[in-house]
Amino acid sequence: MAKALVLGGATGLLGQALTRVLDARGWQVETLGRADGNLLEMDFLEERLSRAQADVVFNTIAWTQVDDAEDHAEEALLLNRTLPDALARLLRTQSQSFLVHYSTDFVFSGQNAAAWREEDLPQPAGVYGRTKLEGEEAVLAALPERACVLRTAWLFGPGRRNFVDTILEACHRRDAISVVHDQHGSPTYSMDLAQWSVDLAEKQTAGLWHAVNSGRASWCELAAEAIALTGGPCKLEPISSEQWPQKARRPAFSVLDNSKLAQMLGKTPRPWPQALRDYLFGEYKSYASKERLS
Ligand SMILES: NC(=O)c1ccc[n+]([C@@H]2O[C@H](COP(=O)([O-])OP(=O)(O)OC[C@H]3O[C@@H](n4cnc5c(N)ncnc54)[C@H](OP(=O)(O)O)[C@@H]3O)[C@@H](O)[C@H]2O)c1
Repeated sequence: MAKALVLGGATGLLGQALTRVLDARGWQVETLGRADGNLLEMDFLEERLSRAQADVVFNTIAWTQVDDAEDHAEEALLLNRTLPDALARLLRTQSQSFLVHYSTDFVFSGQNAAAWREEDLPQPAGVYGRTKLEGEEAVLAALPERACVLRTAWLFGPGRRNFVDTILEACHRRDAISVVHDQHGSPTYSMDLAQWSVDLAEKQTAGLWHAVNSGRASWCELAAEAIALTGGPCKLEPISSEQWPQKARRPAFSVLDNSKLAQMLGKTPRPWPQALRDYLFGEYKSYASKERLS
């Protein structure tokens, strides 16, 4: 039986999805997170990696608060660059483990004629995107043959509050909500991302991958679809980014091209509205509804 170590696997949105999927696919799964100790202490990290003897290490730990990163650049750098860099270096010398690491569509900014491909030049607009870019570069430099980096985006799924939950909760309480319509991206279901991650890990396909569901949306379109699917009564008002000022600048267009992933999987990742229906009414429906109403 293959062994996996999932950093962030007990609490993170993606970490929990990975833990479930690995378990369902017959892997032996161990998680590691802040409750176990300080992962930024190299001796501790080294000891836990060595003890786990994992075939694959999945790192889902990150500083994911995009706006807060602007005021906490050093802490964001520690989690988004220093930790993955240390992981990759330790695995290079210590074991034959394969490393699966995650990055973001926010490494891109501005407009593009088409969805961003892996070979396009990243130009992050904020601290979060910059530190994530430095992390992915560090991982691929330290472990080029035994690491893959999956850039993903706009995650929704069970286990941790996400944009879809926030919208549906707000809709439950209010008659009308305003959502930004001029930022476009690739909504992605954490459970689908976990499945592709395990596919890549099983094939040990190193390199950089854009791992998102197919299709594109604005935040407002994603909200509209979630509200329509759940029959929410509230009115949705599209607003511009200028009407919703945020500390960190977001890319206006961060849609990712997933054709490289599709080729590897032998099928195109399903469209996000189909994945969203699965999240809202599928196996995890009860969890999602409980979260929304609590
Ligand atoms: N969510 C998205 O929409 C999105 C979009 C693009 C890319 N990504 C990338 O996908 C990956 C997974 O994201 P996610 O949405 O699953 O993130 P998440 O739900 O915010 O989980 C982040 C994980 O990092 C852990 N963590 C944070 N600070 C820590 C610290 N100081 N020490 C130890 N652990 C710490 C958290 O632990 P606690 O639970 O204890 O805080 C949690 O397990 C990340 O690389 C992220 O950059 C996410």
